[in-house]
Formats: sequence, C-alpha cells, structure tokens
Amino acid sequence: MGRRITVHPVIEFQKGAQVTIFYEGKPLPAYDGDTVASALIANGIDVFRQSVNLHRPRGLFCAIGNCSSCLMIIDGVPNTRACITSVHEGMTVEQQLNKGMMP
Ligand code: FES
Repeated sequence: MGRRITVHPVIEFQKGAQVTIFYEGKPLPAYDGDTVASALIANGIDVFRQSVNLHRPRGLFCAIGNCSSCLMIIDGVPNTRACITSVHEGMTVEQQLNKGMMP
C-alpha cells in the first residue's frame, strides 16, 4: 500500500483493523475507518466510474459527498458515493460503467 500517507507533520493517523473488500471480484486490503474511495486510491485505483454521455473517467472530486463523481455499485447498490461510504469486511465494489443506472 505504497500510496498511503503514514507520516504527516500535523495529522496523526490511526489505522484500524485490516479488512478485505472485493473490487470487481479482486480482493483488496483496506482498514476499518477507510472510505471505499480511500481504500481504492491506496490500492492504486483512481477511476471509479465513467461519465454518462462521453464515457470519460471519473474519480474522487469533492470527497465530501456533494457531487456525483464517485458513484459506484457498492454491495450491489448503484449510485452509492464511495467517498462517504465506510468499508466493511467482504464488501463488494464495482465500477458504474453506464449500465443504465444513473439517476
Ligand atoms: S467525490 Fe464528490 S460525492 Fe464523492
């Protein structure tokens, strides 16, 4: 997990217990306290979905639940915001690739 910030001059990080999430069926390590977005980015995954009309890659943008850039299918539920959804053991995460599920 080379993309995790482990040392910071101001913020102290407390890592929770390790859990496994399944991204497109592939097991990935995450930690209690991670959001889906932070776990994916820590594992090198930046693209969460594609734009509806032009199929452009979308990923983390506002990171506070106020846009639609991070919508994913999480535990089978489409249009779930990855940036404000906490991970749990066995969680399934899929890209939302214009499967006709956009609001
Ligand atoms: S990045 Fe904006 S709602 Fe998640």
